Amino acid sequence: MQWDFQDIHHQAQTEAQAIDSLQALEAFRLKYLGKKGVVAAVFASLGQAEPGQKAAIGKGANDLRSLVEGLIAEKQTQVNAAKAQGELVDISLPGTGGAVGRTHILTQTMQEIVAVFEQMGFVAVETPETETEFHNFTGLNIPIDHPSRDAFDTFYLDAPDASARGRRLLLRSHTSPGQVRIMKEHKPPLAVIVPGRVYRPDAVDASHSFMFHQVEGLLVDEKVQFSELKGLLTEFCRRFFGPKVIMRFRPHFFPFTEPSAEVDINAEILGIQRKKWLEILGCGMVNPKVFEAVGYPKGKYKGFAFGMGVERMAMLKYGINDIRLFYENDVRFLKQF
Ligand code: PHE
Repeated sequence: MQWDFQDIHHQAQTEAQAIDSLQALEAFRLKYLGKKGVVAAVFASLGQAEPGQKAAIGKGANDLRSLVEGLIAEKQTQVNAAKAQGELVDISLPGTGGAVGRTHILTQTMQEIVAVFEQMGFVAVETPETETEFHNFTGLNIPIDHPSRDAFDTFYLDAPDASARGRRLLLRSHTSPGQVRIMKEHKPPLAVIVPGRVYRPDAVDASHSFMFHQVEGLLVDEKVQFSELKGLLTEFCRRFFGPKVIMRFRPHFFPFTEPSAEVDINAEILGIQRKKWLEILGCGMVNPKVFEAVGYPKGKYKGFAFGMGVERMAMLKYGINDIRLFYENDVRFLKQF
């Protein structure tokens, strides 16, 4: 078979000029470079070609392939540019926009809690999530036989740490060890707020998680009264939940505060049906034994402390009924806040 390469090249060039869409471009590519295309046919003809012509036919096929590839690349750029220009002028189309991230609802809630206390003069401090037994228990007057010290009630770490002086290390079970750390390093007067994660090996269900968030508060000075603690927390709840909130202080026990109380929020008023009262925090006057443990002079200082659950606060404020929603990171949930 004879090939008129000059004619074929010319035809390919003419056809390429007329291409104005991606479909036409693909048809052109198939016609020349496809399995049953012209280039393949030229190569296939080599089998029957006269020995003297083989070199010319091979070169012709290779040249044709290069030419067509070049034409395709050139046309591709043109077609894309034309398309993009068409899109640029159509300003009536709704934009697609990049997905913009946001602060997680728990972080937002924690920041909001901290901000309210900062407005009232507290200073935010973070303390470690990995703690010593002294900070998490002993310094807080939690006795050696207290159930929360049990290996089944706390996440202990395998690795002993030099700073723990041979005692076990653990993931803190509350933010209260922050109290001990801060008082060991600073003299009163002090007013601090300590946000962070805490860990308890609870089975996960709608209201429990092995990891959750707390915000600890501590105020120490020479004269501090329980009524001030009540006033502060009442004002906090009004600012956080709004003026309609109804709260109650219920007597309770904590080894590190005396007297102690828990605060419940009336969930019905906030539109949550599950339970009438939902506990949000523990609080009380700092137990003198804690002052002793951190080395404060006997009888010199008084103070109060409180620790609140961030998940509970967010659930009440936004009407969320399952704690697991916070951690599943389903965008449909997260983007509501
Ligand atoms: N640490 C306590 C808890 O996790 C809460 C608390 C903090 C109570 C400070 C009193 C004072 O339950």
